[in-house]
Amino acid sequence: MKALILAGGMGTRLRPLTNTRPKHLLPIANRPHIEHVFDLLQRHGVDEVVLLTSYLAEAFETTVGQAASRGLAVHVTHEEEPLGTAGALRNAEEFASDGTFLVFNGDVLMDIDLGEVLEFHRDRGAEATIVLTPVDDPSAYGVVPTEQGGRVLGFIEKPPRDEATTNLINAGIYVLEPSVLERIPRGEVWSAERQLFPGLVEEGARLFAVAAESYWMDIGTPEKFLQANLDALSGRYRDAQLPELTGGSLIGEGAKIDGDAQVSSASIGEDAEIEAGAVVEESVLMPRAVVEAGAIVRRSILGEASIASKDATLIGITLEDNTKT
Ligand code: GDD
Ligand code: MG
Repeated sequence: MKALILAGGMGTRLRPLTNTRPKHLLPIANRPHIEHVFDLLQRHGVDEVVLLTSYLAEAFETTVGQAASRGLAVHVTHEEEPLGTAGALRNAEEFASDGTFLVFNGDVLMDIDLGEVLEFHRDRGAEATIVLTPVDDPSAYGVVPTEQGGRVLGFIEKPPRDEATTNLINAGIYVLEPSVLERIPRGEVWSAERQLFPGLVEEGARLFAVAAESYWMDIGTPEKFLQANLDALSGRYRDAQLPELTGGSLIGEGAKIDGDAQVSSASIGEDAEIEAGAVVEESVLMPRAVVEAGAIVRRSILGEASIASKDATLIGITLEDNTKT
């Protein structure tokens, strides 16, 4: 079975980190996020994926180039202008016309049993199945009320807070039959959430949804991206390839940490540096970031080769690549 991965969004909410890379390549426990999606798929026997790219597509080359060595075949489609979450699927139809396929929002970190979802899809004879996950504030997501048995009653993308009738939201994982693609106009910008799914509900198509209880996080904001990293360190998100931690932190190759620095619950990228007397807690340091002597960094994200200067205090800050506070 193939999986199509939507990876062409601009990652606006993660600027400035996404000025230079798509969010899908930001590190989770020191590995590009997209590789965690690959892990999940391969664990479930999916060894062929189609990466649907647009924004900063060339940045995926390294990861795609390395995929073969892990036994994964990766095809890449490119949208000159982003075609939207459904238009992107239609644009990849040549890869998705030979049977049931999976679709993933490529910015979701999760550990879900795909086998159960596929079984549900087949049992219901569904044309499309949406995976749901519970969240505290559904207004930031696609809200999907269902009937008992899972038939979808509606799809309301990002409703006002008081209009969400359930806290079960679209997890951004779908099982689709090729016939669904025929509902998407070719070469047009088309949204899965605002056009395709509401249209399927309206025409009474066999659209179902199934809730998953497993770990799930959309990494699309700085807070969530940071939380996903903390969850990988704490084991809330189980990263089978997580290297051994040092005092609860992940220390990348070549990173230098002064014996007189305090580091806890941090993901420290390759060749990063933490000087004497510095404190780094619940933070992500991307490769070559520097925390100078006496600086305090808490719940912050330091971009590549950025510098938290001597004695600075950074709390809840995102520092752009190559900049200094
Ligand atoms: N190829 C391509 N082309 N990919 C796109 C495009 C496009 O035009 N637009 C967005 N994407 C990709 C993004 O890169 C991301 O991986 C995914 O599609 C979802 O887009 P986001 O911009 O992250 O959407 P969201 O987080 O606001 O909402 C979506 O995800 C929620 C779950 O995290 C929706 O699907 C919601 O309904 C859902 O609840
Ligand atoms: Mg998202």
